[in-house]
Amino acid sequence: MDSFEVNKIAGAVLAAILVIAGTKTLLDINFHKHKPEKAGWALPVEAIAAKPAEPEAPFDVAAITTLLPKANADAGKAVFKKCLACHTADKGGRNLVGPNLWGVVGRKIAEAPGFNFSDAMKKHPGTWSWDELTKYLHSPVGAIPGNKMQFPGVKDNTDLADLLVYLRTLSDSPIALPK
Ligand code: HEC
Repeated sequence: MDSFEVNKIAGAVLAAILVIAGTKTLLDINFHKHKPEKAGWALPVEAIAAKPAEPEAPFDVAAITTLLPKANADAGKAVFKKCLACHTADKGGRNLVGPNLWGVVGRKIAEAPGFNFSDAMKKHPGTWSWDELTKYLHSPVGAIPGNKMQFPGVKDNTDLADLLVYLRTLSDSPIALPK
């Protein structure tokens, strides 16, 4: 092996190290960019552990409706922040991208006054019962294919139950909670 070849090999090894180190640095930078925005030390370990990238478990409506009697409307109001981009919640509030949601629980589907619902929504029979609302808010597209609410759904059962009891408060005479 002459010294030229040794140099070539050394060069190749160095290049490999550079690529590895470089990739690692890029990964580090990327990783840091995606850190949660909220700073703080008491990171809820379970919350992180509860978000694996595994396929969704089959959805069980009863698993949510049984939570309703003990659900927390105040916490639900916080969950509702996700909806405020498109919905108002006050009595007589404006329709935005989506309809005003005052009185929606128990009302006929697609009946919010003055809102132009999609055909998919208008054709969907029934009222916003606890079951219908649970299915729809868990997966809007799954529950009513073709409806135009651009929202992925609330996948956490507790959040969804809290949200539902909050929606129930948007009424002069809230309907009964499921037994
Ligand atoms: C990006 C906008 C957007 C977001 C975010 C959004 N919605 Fe909607 N929502 C809509 C639209 C648009 C419709 C009407 C769908 C149609 O006509 O197909 C709708 C319809 C509804 C309806 C049916 C109303 C009725 O009178 O029949 C309910 C209930 C509802 N949304 C609840 C929610 C809740 C609760 C959230 C938050 C968890 C939410 N939406 C988030 C746009 C949105």
